Amino acid sequence: MKFVQAKNYSDMSRKAANIISAQVILKNDSVIGLATGSTPIGVYTQLIDWHKKGDLSFAKAISVNLDEYCGLPVSHPESYRSFMDNNFFDHIDIERNNTYLPDGMAIDFSKECKDYDQLIDDLGGIDLQLLGVGNNGHIGFNEPSEEFYIDTHSVELTQSTIASNARFFEDDISKVPKTALTLGIRYIMQAKKIVLIANGEVKMNVIERAFSGKITPMLPISILQLHSNVTIVYSKV
Ligand code: F6R
Repeated sequence: MKFVQAKNYSDMSRKAANIISAQVILKNDSVIGLATGSTPIGVYTQLIDWHKKGDLSFAKAISVNLDEYCGLPVSHPESYRSFMDNNFFDHIDIERNNTYLPDGMAIDFSKECKDYDQLIDDLGGIDLQLLGVGNNGHIGFNEPSEEFYIDTHSVELTQSTIASNARFFEDDISKVPKTALTLGIRYIMQAKKIVLIANGEVKMNVIERAFSGKITPMLPISILQLHSNVTIVYSKV
């Protein structure tokens, strides 16, 4: 496990983007696991910048996102598909057919989850997984719980996640979807390399507890202690 301290949010974003960029330069058909939320926006902005300057191409890369809200049409501005299109995919040369997210509008969630796991299997697993972390220690939408969920699954979001994500829904908790589909622990832990980004006091506290305390599904991120190639790029501010 490597801890890389950054000076601030933009330094953290640039450092994490450097790792992703190196991955794609060294293996242009990499399968990259991606996250949404506010933390990775700076990483995506940096990668877009390098792409626009002609230094980085995603033409052969494949992306697999961690999660998607249930019941939000893809066209909804806060669906994770919209988020990824607006903040990343629309500005780089990745083939749209090579960008995957779980389908939160699927009729049969259980089949959708199985298909998503099969897809990742067929792709040969994830080369590099970018992760943020929730204030409650969730990764993807693997919420604190009595047990770790191995496979892609549908999940009831906790009140703290709903409250935290209300900022994306006009601060109206009633507009935040209550369920989501998320990659389980298996494919996150099987990623060859993990880059975790976190900034600010609340997240520093989560990181501290996750990597110095015991491994527990009540703090899902703590499972990363068992991964052999995790880089935590963090900024206290
Ligand atoms: C979303 C995801 C979540 C976020 C987490 C932190 O795809 O993976 O685990 O990383 O909720 O979100 P922000 O960055 O908004 O604090």
